[in-house]
Amino acid sequence: MSVVALGPADWGNLGLWASPDQTYVSACEALADRLAEAARLTPGCSVADVGCGRGAQLARWVRTFGVERVEAFDTAHGSAAQKLVMRCGLAASVAVHDGGLERLEAASVDRVVALDSAYFFDTRREFVQEAARVLKPGGRLGLADLVVSKPGHRRLKWAARISGVPTANLWTAADFGRELADAGFTDLRWETVTRQVLGGFAAAVKAQGRAVAPAEPWVKVWATGKMCRVAVESQVLEYVLAGAARS
Ligand SMILES: C[S@@+](CC[C@H](N)C(=O)[O-])C[C@H]1O[C@@H](n2cnc3c(N)ncnc32)[C@H](O)[C@@H]1O
Repeated sequence: MSVVALGPADWGNLGLWASPDQTYVSACEALADRLAEAARLTPGCSVADVGCGRGAQLARWVRTFGVERVEAFDTAHGSAAQKLVMRCGLAASVAVHDGGLERLEAASVDRVVALDSAYFFDTRREFVQEAARVLKPGGRLGLADLVVSKPGHRRLKWAARISGVPTANLWTAADFGRELADAGFTDLRWETVTRQVLGGFAAAVKAQGRAVAPAEPWVKVWATGKMCRVAVESQVLEYVLAGAARS
């Protein structure tokens, strides 16, 4: 396997920031690594990754965590992810598919992950139910995701709509726990990382400007940074790392 260096254009998440001056790539890797811990990615396991973006995380699952097989999905960036897989020589371990988890057989994978993506799915409930179907008993779901802490906030639905987030996905932490339990998940582990993710992205945009994510349009980066800052200041949203077991 050739070890090809990956750059900011290969990533597309909010990152987990220890400092506003660190690079976007290192913040994205940090968020991916924490998700891998929440999902308990282990050498030899098989993973379904929904919302893989341009695919940098696929290389991380294989190279850093020793995952044996990844079935990857992304509605917008599947072809970029496929190119990255080829560029990195990962075709024997990673398949990028059109569509979603419905193409996988029941009880066929050890882990399902969604890195900064499940809040976009239409709907997250259907995704969680599909994740429960494709996971083997005892397998784990891992999410780096958004939850609502002030469901009645007057601008929440407006902000969701302009960000492409279905309003059906505006779950509180309690909703999240109930939805996972209803789908057949147990042993929910939950960590709040709002300050490091939403606060961190906002601070990095302020400190670094365009350099934060040079491959993305500046207006998108700026607007995302502003939304993250407002979300932290008004305490409307929390960013969480969640892991749960398929019973
Ligand atoms: C914020 S980006 C995160 C990308 C990637 N996980 C990363 O960390 O670089 C969210 C991704 O979810 C993808 N997405 C949105 N809805 C989806 C769906 N229903 N199925 C699969 N991917 C989806 C988008 O195309 C986008 O690439």
